[in-house]
Amino acid sequence: MSRFYEKTSTSPVNIAVIKYWGKRDTTLILPTNSSLSVTLSQENLQSKTTIRASPDFKKTRLWLNGIEEIDIDNNKRLQNCLRETRYLRKEYENKLIKEGVKTVIPLSEYNVHICSENNFPTAAGLASSASGFACLVYTLAQLYELPVSTTELSKIARQGSGSACRSLFGGFVAWELGSQNDGSDSQAIQIAPKNHWPELEALICIVSDAKKGVSSTEGMQNTVATSPLLQHRIEQVVPERMKSITEAILNRDFQKFAEITMRDSNQFHAVCLDTYPPIFYLNDVSRAIIRVITEYNSSNEFKKLKAAYTFDAGPNAVIYTLRENVPEIINLIAKYFPGNVKNDKDYFSDPDQLFAGNKVG
Ligand code: DP6
Repeated sequence: MSRFYEKTSTSPVNIAVIKYWGKRDTTLILPTNSSLSVTLSQENLQSKTTIRASPDFKKTRLWLNGIEEIDIDNNKRLQNCLRETRYLRKEYENKLIKEGVKTVIPLSEYNVHICSENNFPTAAGLASSASGFACLVYTLAQLYELPVSTTELSKIARQGSGSACRSLFGGFVAWELGSQNDGSDSQAIQIAPKNHWPELEALICIVSDAKKGVSSTEGMQNTVATSPLLQHRIEQVVPERMKSITEAILNRDFQKFAEITMRDSNQFHAVCLDTYPPIFYLNDVSRAIIRVITEYNSSNEFKKLKAAYTFDAGPNAVIYTLRENVPEIINLIAKYFPGNVKNDKDYFSDPDQLFAGNKVG
């Protein structure tokens, strides 16, 4: 029996309320603006990764979703995450040896086998790269017993996929853009833990589980290269919004939280439209959801915002609301979209399955 060392962990999905869109450094994955997200509970959406290290492995290998072996030699982002964590492990091994520890296992020299799976459609605009890379880096850190903080790890996960840095924390998380060219201060920090606002819920409307047309990575760089509106967003809009939404979260002010969330989703999609040629992520069903939520918010006596929609790089909607409104919103959506939300898989065309109710994780 050969020797091996193994760790398994799971990571959640996060959905941004202030969107990350644009890189100032595409290799280190440094963003053009700060962003802020809510981490969802892992009940419905999670990545699970098992990593095994052994002196007998001839090669480092990766399998995705149980079947497909992925070519990792040309996957620079994955190689960056492996290299950075190995480097920290090597430093740790040297420190232990210096301290006179006799039984230091040279894990940094072993190849690893990685098995990673998502319990939801990969690359359908449901932030699978965020939970996937967060899980990869977290599991490596566990395997290597790295004595580093979660914020330190976020700088490595960021190099896998920008939004992944935010999935290392639960609750409400900011990714600070940082000012250093080496990325040493472009990191995730927790604004508030999940139990800070237990009434907040996220409803996920799966409009389509098809793989998205233009990837985030490609789309955002076209935006950086061609959109004048993005410059305005970076300089004039996001810094103020980051402050206001942080305050709204700390005060559990749903009105303010909802308004900023919807405005930021709208501006992100406006910036996509301002890209040349334009990028369309929303479809007719997405736009109908926006109308239904807008109508719902203006239909009560005091015009109180009771729900906030947000859309990432795909047509699926995430609706943030307070727990007391969840049944009302589910009824509303079921009324307006009975069998209207068509998908390749029957499983998603059942209106009851349209939603995955999610607590903040
Ligand atoms: C629209 O993190 O997937 O979801 O860094 O190129 O891997 P890469 O991009 P990615 O982009 C996410 C974009 C977004 C907004 C967000 O999550 O903040």
